[in-house]
Amino acid sequence: MLISTATLDPAFRVARVDRRLFGSFVEHMGRCVYGGIYEPDHPEADSAGFRQDVLELVRELGVTTVRYPGGNFVSGYRWEDGVGPRENRPHRLDLAWRSVETNEFGLGEFITWTRRAGVEPMLAVNLGTRGTEAACDLLEYANHPNGTRLSDERAAHGSREPYAVKMWCLGNEMDGPWQIGAKTADEYGRLAAETAKAMKQIDPSIELVACGSSHSQMPTFGAWEATVLDHAYDYVDYLSLHAYFEELDGDRGSFLGSAYAMDRFIEGVIATCDHVAAKKRSKRRLRLSFDEWNVWYAAGFAAADLGWARAPRLIEDEYTALDSVVVGNLMMSLLRHADRVAIACQAQLVNVIAPIRAEPGRPAWRQTTFYPFALTARHAVGDVLRVEPVSPVYATAQHGDVPVTDVVATRDPETGNTTVFAVNRHQDQPVEVRLDVRALGTTAVVEHLYLGGSDLGLANTAAVPDRVAPRTGSGARIDGGTCTVVLPPVSWTMVRLNSGR
Ligand code: AHR
Repeated sequence: MLISTATLDPAFRVARVDRRLFGSFVEHMGRCVYGGIYEPDHPEADSAGFRQDVLELVRELGVTTVRYPGGNFVSGYRWEDGVGPRENRPHRLDLAWRSVETNEFGLGEFITWTRRAGVEPMLAVNLGTRGTEAACDLLEYANHPNGTRLSDERAAHGSREPYAVKMWCLGNEMDGPWQIGAKTADEYGRLAAETAKAMKQIDPSIELVACGSSHSQMPTFGAWEATVLDHAYDYVDYLSLHAYFEELDGDRGSFLGSAYAMDRFIEGVIATCDHVAAKKRSKRRLRLSFDEWNVWYAAGFAAADLGWARAPRLIEDEYTALDSVVVGNLMMSLLRHADRVAIACQAQLVNVIAPIRAEPGRPAWRQTTFYPFALTARHAVGDVLRVEPVSPVYATAQHGDVPVTDVVATRDPETGNTTVFAVNRHQDQPVEVRLDVRALGTTAVVEHLYLGGSDLGLANTAAVPDRVAPRTGSGARIDGGTCTVVLPPVSWTMVRLNSGR
């Protein structure tokens, strides 16, 4: 049997787990808002039109932060269309998704929804068709207490209390040729810096995210980040990363190595941020907002025919057990970089490449990818430990040699309990993982769950919503200071260790 080893020691820690790593994303795209979180005609809708079954699953998923309203959508959005009396709100063309936006759901509805869901809002401003003035207006409307035209308008619209939104994205994917109002790095860097300065004049407590590259394969990746930060470094708090992964041309080995590619991507962006810091002799270290990540079978979407419909079905990918293994592994990559990645948003929350699916009039259900997210959000608590697994490697077409096994662990200093997340990327062989846990003072394995291992093509559907769920593993044990667990081929595993305190 293949063997991998690692040592878990609380003396070696990466950082405290920032709860904002368990964020998600609601875009006005397809049926994420309309027919997703909001469906007034659904039997489970509350008085505000929010689906209660979806809200319950959002809470169960453990989402902490939700980015809104886009995505590509935001680059053509007029936020004013979505506030005030519904009967006055215009229908508009949404150029990003060639849809009709009715504006029935806007900022006020979103803030109310976040409170019912128990999540923190993260708003994006339009730096595509609009600029500093509209961003400042939106911030004044949302966060200024009262006594100005826009803050008084918010009160007249039903919220005397400011929304107090802390996290703001300065546009979306501004390097992408598909983006409405796409910019060069110099154009965007200047605009981001000036908008950041102005927004912080209105509310110095906010935190701002500048756009990094749309993905690591963009021709300007690296140069874009460096130029944008040359302009904006001193005014922003985070730089964004986006990444989507899919199995292309049956190349499963590379797909299973997605988290390895994500590690390299994150490390490249950190290096670029620190390069700019060094040039500026800055003592500040920028943190990262991985505010779009997921598995997305995007190659199929490129050919999709978009028409001018209201809330059309767009990219409602059906996820398999295989996808759940990769999603679980991507979350491990985020945890591993918890010292620099402060925020992460899985894209998106409902229906659109989402862990939660909803059909009109029917109960919502959990996709396979729901489970690794929910288990990680619930059990990755406390400090991320610095784990250096020693693993065999395998060759991939896209990423070179990739370790067969990946391991990440968190330890809660209050309880002393430890959670181990592990992935076996080997396609037909199990791996025995041997963890030296002597420094943890651990006494017992209390839970051992896994996804994948067999039936990798199975998915959950409206008709059979519970086909794929985590299975209880067997045989994980602690003996003489070594915790041993066997990972089935192509699987994601979570093992919880009790400190015995
Ligand atoms: O999440 C879907 C789309 O992917 C977003 O609108 C965009 O930012 C990204 O390209």
